[in-house]
Amino acid sequence: MNSFSTGESTPIKVLIPQNRLQERVSELGNEISQAFAEKDLAIVAILKGSFIFAADLLRAIKIPCSIDFMGISSYAGQPRSGVVQITKDLDQSIAGKNVLLVEDIIDTGLTATYLIHTLRQHRPASIDICALLDKSARRIIDVPIPYRGFEIPDVFVVGYGMDFQQQYRNLPDIVVLRSNGAPKTDVIQADQASNKSES
Ligand code: IMP
Ligand code: MG
Repeated sequence: MNSFSTGESTPIKVLIPQNRLQERVSELGNEISQAFAEKDLAIVAILKGSFIFAADLLRAIKIPCSIDFMGISSYAGQPRSGVVQITKDLDQSIAGKNVLLVEDIIDTGLTATYLIHTLRQHRPASIDICALLDKSARRIIDVPIPYRGFEIPDVFVVGYGMDFQQQYRNLPDIVVLRSNGAPKTDVIQADQASNKSES
C-alpha cells in the first residue's frame, strides 16, 4: 500500500520509502568518509528539517567528525528573498575546518546560498553541501550539491524530519502531500502571514 491518511483526512503518497532512504544514506556516508578521510570534517546540520537525516548520516560516516547545528527561520513577507533569521547559531568554531552543510532539501537554492555566505565569514577551510533531496526544477540560484540523496519532482514533501506547518516530521517515509503536488496556496499564505515559519 503506498497511500494512506494521517487522520486529518489529508491524502499522502509515499515518494521514497524508508528502506530506500537507509540505503542511500549509507551510500552517502561511504562517499563522504572517503572524500574527507584526511580532512578535519565538521558537519553543520540545519534545523529543524535535517535532524533525522543528519542523525542517520552521522552514523553512516566512518571517519572522525564533529557535528553542530544551526537553527533558521524564514522571515514573513520575504519567502523568496533567501534571507533567514538564525534562531540558533554554531556552538563551536569552524575556522580552518572542512565543513559539510547538511540540508533536508534544496529548493530555490536561496537558503543554502545565504547560509554558505554566512558560514564563510567564520573562515572554514572549505564548505560543501550534502542535501537529501534536490528539487532542481525550482532552482533560482545555482548551488553545487556534491553529495545529493535524491532528485525529486516539483512536489511538496514531508516526513523523515520535514514538515508542513510543524506536522508530519515523524513519518518514516518521504511522502507527497496531496497527489497533485503542493498544499493549497491559501494554506501556505496563512502560514507565512503568521509571523515566521521554521525550516
Ligand atoms: P530554498 O531556499 O527554496 O532552497 O528552500 C529550502 C528550504 O525550504 C528547505 O530547507 C526546507 O526547509 C523548505 N522546503 C522546500 N521545499 C520543501 C518541501 O517540499 N517540503 C518541506 N520543506 C520544504
Ligand atoms: Mg531546511
